[in-house]
Amino acid sequence: MQFKDTNILLGITGGIAAYKTPDLVRKLVAQGANVRVVLTESAKEFVSPLSLQAVSGNTVSDSLLDKDAEAAMGHIELARWADKLLIAPATANFLAKLTYGLADDLLSTLCLATAAPIYVAPAMNQQMWLAKATQSNIKLLQGRDIQFLGPAQGEQACGDVGPGRMLEPEEIVQLILPAVSQVLADKHIIITAGPTREDIDPVRYITNHSSGKMGYALAKAAQVLGANVTLISGPVNLTAPTQVHTINVSSAEDMHKAVMQQMGDCDIFIGCAAVADYRPQQKTSQKIKKSEQELTLTFVKNPDILSDVAHLTKPPFTVGFAAETQNLREYALGKLTRKKLNMIAANDVSNTNIGFNSEQNAVTVFWPEGEKQLNIADKSLLAAQLMQLVAERYTKNTD
Ligand code: PMT
Repeated sequence: MQFKDTNILLGITGGIAAYKTPDLVRKLVAQGANVRVVLTESAKEFVSPLSLQAVSGNTVSDSLLDKDAEAAMGHIELARWADKLLIAPATANFLAKLTYGLADDLLSTLCLATAAPIYVAPAMNQQMWLAKATQSNIKLLQGRDIQFLGPAQGEQACGDVGPGRMLEPEEIVQLILPAVSQVLADKHIIITAGPTREDIDPVRYITNHSSGKMGYALAKAAQVLGANVTLISGPVNLTAPTQVHTINVSSAEDMHKAVMQQMGDCDIFIGCAAVADYRPQQKTSQKIKKSEQELTLTFVKNPDILSDVAHLTKPPFTVGFAAETQNLREYALGKLTRKKLNMIAANDVSNTNIGFNSEQNAVTVFWPEGEKQLNIADKSLLAAQLMQLVAERYTKNTD
């Protein structure tokens, strides 16, 4: 019941994702929130006011000039009532209105009239999201402390694939929970992601199956919570989340150097990259030619980035990952202690449905005094849940 006694005003604008909002309301209510809903005219084409009234237990508002509504809870009163204003889905049109401070309907007027923090969960066609006008509106709105929740990447109602899907109701709820929403704001979070590439000669290297999806999802989850995120990424085929400072590296040694250079004001470090433990002792300057029946390569140990961060004189709150194929608990707990970590998220990578290069993951998170299981879920949701846990443990650690 993390929203006990919290008044959440949910603004719904006219996008197909509006059909998910009754579920969103139910999930907010289940966390103890008092929810009031405001619909724009076009939202009513996608979701029925009656359903929203039934799930929220409150009258739904939709008009600025409604005499009866103004006589009951008028727009200024509603704006003052809200502890949080959440707009989901937020269309490109609504983001533009918000940017220019228009007040031509109830919801846009409430945005100007409230002192509550505003969260937006955008939903639109990927080309509309990527349009220069929308992107420049987003930059302006973020500069005004409006928190963006998503959007997610993926297949869209129109058949396109790309950024612009509204986050799932569960993800939205996770991201605005009080434990998360304030604690991480303005914190510098450094996240490593992806594989490293260890060169053998100018044309060959050794690497692993990490796609970077887990680390990029964490970067996005941290960024939407207002953290100042630096993503240090090995070679992947992913687009970095907007507003995240991304540094691309190749080898474990490059990644180690980049992490250490950024450490100055780091509050939280999350090592999600699958860093090669060893590299070839020598990278030959010329391509190795085929000759003998056997070829022997000697490997030397790479620096352990995570351990080096945790052993700094003033270490940040340090979170590791453990990719294990057996003895998950024992090996993860060993790494937690040996590397002096605050937390470790262990995934069973013998299960090919999760972990390396899959859309989903499941982890058991261990810290010195406890543990928590995060069940199988899309990496974006799992990342949101993990960031919530990081925020909780970080708060306890700095108390
Ligand atoms: O990228 P995806 O396809 O989405 O897959 C996600 C993932 C499976 C890669 C991710 O969830 C994960 O488990 N990442 C850690 C992989 C790993 O290298 O685990 P490890 O148990 O070998 O290493 C333990 C920890 O030490 C990790 O935090 C790792 O980043 C760190 N490490 C390891 C070696 C090294 N030289 N330096 C390090 O910092």
